[in-house]
Amino acid sequence: MLEDTSFAIHPGKEKKDGAFSYTDIGNLVGYEKDAAGYTFNCTNGFVTLQVFTDSIVRVTMNATKKPLLDNSQAVMVRPEHVEIEEINTEHELTLKTKELVVTLQKAPFRVTVADTHGRVLVNEDSRGMAYRENGEVIAFKQMDAQDHFYGFGEKSGHLDKRGEKLEMWNTDVYAPHNPETKALYESIPYFMTLRDGKVHGIFFDNTYKTYFDLQSSEEYYSFSAEGGQLDYYVLAGPHPKLVLEQYTYLTGRMPLPPKWSIGYHQSRYSYETEAEVRELAKNFIKKDIPVDVIHLDIHYMNGYRVFTFDKERFPNPEQLIADLKEMGIRVVPIVDPGVKKDAEYPIYQEGVLEDHFCKYIEGNIYYGEVWPGVSAFPDFTEEKVRKWWGKKHEFYTSMGIEGIWNDMNEPAVFNESKTMDLDVIHRNDGNRATHRELHNVYGLLMGKATYEGMKENLQGKRPFLLTRAGYAGVQRYGSVWTGDNRSFWEHLQMSLPMVMNLGLSGVPFTGPDVGGFAHDTNAELLTRWIQVGAFTPFFRNHSAIGFRYQEPWQFGEKYEAIMKKYIQMRYQWMPQLYSLFYQASEQGLPVMRPLLMEYPDDAKTYNLNDQFMLGDNVIFAPILNPSVTDRAVYLPKGDWVEYTTGASYEGEKVHLIHAELEDLPIFVRKGTALMQTEWQSNQDKETKSLTMKVFASDDANYSFTFYDDDGETFAYENGEYLKMVFDIQSSADQVEINVVSKEGNYQPAYKEIKIELICLNKDVLVNGKNSSIISL
Ligand code: NOJ
Repeated sequence: MLEDTSFAIHPGKEKKDGAFSYTDIGNLVGYEKDAAGYTFNCTNGFVTLQVFTDSIVRVTMNATKKPLLDNSQAVMVRPEHVEIEEINTEHELTLKTKELVVTLQKAPFRVTVADTHGRVLVNEDSRGMAYRENGEVIAFKQMDAQDHFYGFGEKSGHLDKRGEKLEMWNTDVYAPHNPETKALYESIPYFMTLRDGKVHGIFFDNTYKTYFDLQSSEEYYSFSAEGGQLDYYVLAGPHPKLVLEQYTYLTGRMPLPPKWSIGYHQSRYSYETEAEVRELAKNFIKKDIPVDVIHLDIHYMNGYRVFTFDKERFPNPEQLIADLKEMGIRVVPIVDPGVKKDAEYPIYQEGVLEDHFCKYIEGNIYYGEVWPGVSAFPDFTEEKVRKWWGKKHEFYTSMGIEGIWNDMNEPAVFNESKTMDLDVIHRNDGNRATHRELHNVYGLLMGKATYEGMKENLQGKRPFLLTRAGYAGVQRYGSVWTGDNRSFWEHLQMSLPMVMNLGLSGVPFTGPDVGGFAHDTNAELLTRWIQVGAFTPFFRNHSAIGFRYQEPWQFGEKYEAIMKKYIQMRYQWMPQLYSLFYQASEQGLPVMRPLLMEYPDDAKTYNLNDQFMLGDNVIFAPILNPSVTDRAVYLPKGDWVEYTTGASYEGEKVHLIHAELEDLPIFVRKGTALMQTEWQSNQDKETKSLTMKVFASDDANYSFTFYDDDGETFAYENGEYLKMVFDIQSSADQVEINVVSKEGNYQPAYKEIKIELICLNKDVLVNGKNSSIISL
């Protein structure tokens, strides 16, 4: 029996001799099976195993036999009925589903998960699952020399996290986030391992501070938590897309966003008056620069009291919102969780009198200093509090507001620990827990309160939520921006792997502050960043108080013209983008993807940080350095066409590409297609024409799904959508396009799809006839 095995873990916590004493789970003594799954009684604790689907198993270790805890609110489903074949021998118990083989070694108790083709996903050897008296739990898994690691939510540094130590603890990190910053605003304790071209996933559903050590050993990696139970799901993959489908089957997928939220957002901390906001909006109209949203940062409020407007700065917010809407622009105000301690402020009064705020166990309210001064914090772990908070948003919806920006919801507090006291108690609908346990879900549950409240108040219109903090599953409620970056080229560079890893963590609607938040931006950086932002899922230019304004016109006509061109391009690509958002909402796939997602067999893509894909057929290779107009671009298998020049490039090669300031290198895979429209005006953004750009090849088959609907309501749930599946076959002398299926009752303003053949002179056949038009 293994007891008190010494393991060295936790960055910075090792004793001088590098050892820490852990209790191994020990040997199997016996097991029981019931409707919920298997419980294995071991000499030093209990392990449960639940088979969720043929390709997902959940393993949970608890030192004392407790019912399984489900505090995180991350997982949305219960185990399905799965046929399991059981083989019990003296040394092992083997459980087989259609996709997985779980082997439970009895002495010591060890778990191996393989697929039915013999590929080992998770393997425990001399080290398995263990815990300490103080509540820490840890799992060790064997690591292969070929392993690459992705996901982990919002993390700085490179795409591939092999060799890193990471922490999950939602933290307000003002400006200094750099490759060494381990914990940022979001905690998504999920990752995928790429091994020999195949991928599997692990979701470690633990809301305490968690650690992932991919550094200390070449033989094994570990994940651990400061408390709670060891609770993880193994996802079979084997393709990156399947892992994401499996992960988002558990944690949910993003709802279809309103189309306007996929447009360009302009923000500043803060546009401080109604007059300033009107001027800003007028400028966009006058200059014909597309914009869908103007954000209001904290200065719109009366003394930073949420659910108020400052009457002097914003004397008539209803009128402002209505006038901007006429111009095609929505207003999204910021809402922080901190409620000002002020006996004359109704939200605070209600919060106290109706018992909505977080408290210590002794019953006194927790107060922390944030923008409004001393503030109380709603306990979003309680449903009644979420309902109350959600309903309060009528204040905004009654003025015509359809989107909310949640900030400071780690929660951030201006004190040394940067957050709420860890011994504050969350009531958690009767399942009391300390803030130490539930810190990482505070933002997720504030997002839930906000999204659900807005949805109810908006009566049929889709709400938009932007949130800074979150946990696994945050995609169900909102989009995420990556917090306070700086106007540095390095931060533009780092934003790409960060957004791509967020996408691989189930959160498809994300982006950084374009132009950089803190520090003064400059013309070249802003221009290059706008080129990238035009193709990241969330596209918002935001800058901090005290630093240069960075609206697209701030640096003179030359730069303005380039930025305008790219923001307009965002709108030309809208049908394509929206179809990708549809895919995200259906399958959990990212909109913006690292190349490895489409080319998991190609090792050159495994840590490719400065290129990204939209969907499965377009590669962007932006310039990410000052004064640079040439860069290396790696193109994987296939033949490629540069989008603007029409030049052809061979795949599986590195090319030197020239790109002046006005150029963003974009490569489309030959044999595929893109759906595009035309930019009209801010006042009229309805899609009126549709063009399918077909990038001809001599030999290729491609299938793609185009999706559209009114972009604003939930009518699509009742069949008001248009979904068309196209099959494109290119050969030496012709391109044949077949409409494989067409679904839905949505009647768009466009009545046909024009076909534009890019490169090569070939005949186009639509459904077997010579044509350049697809009629709807
Ligand atoms: C911190 C946020 O990250 C930033 O975007 C915002 O402008 C400031 N808080 C002020 O609200």
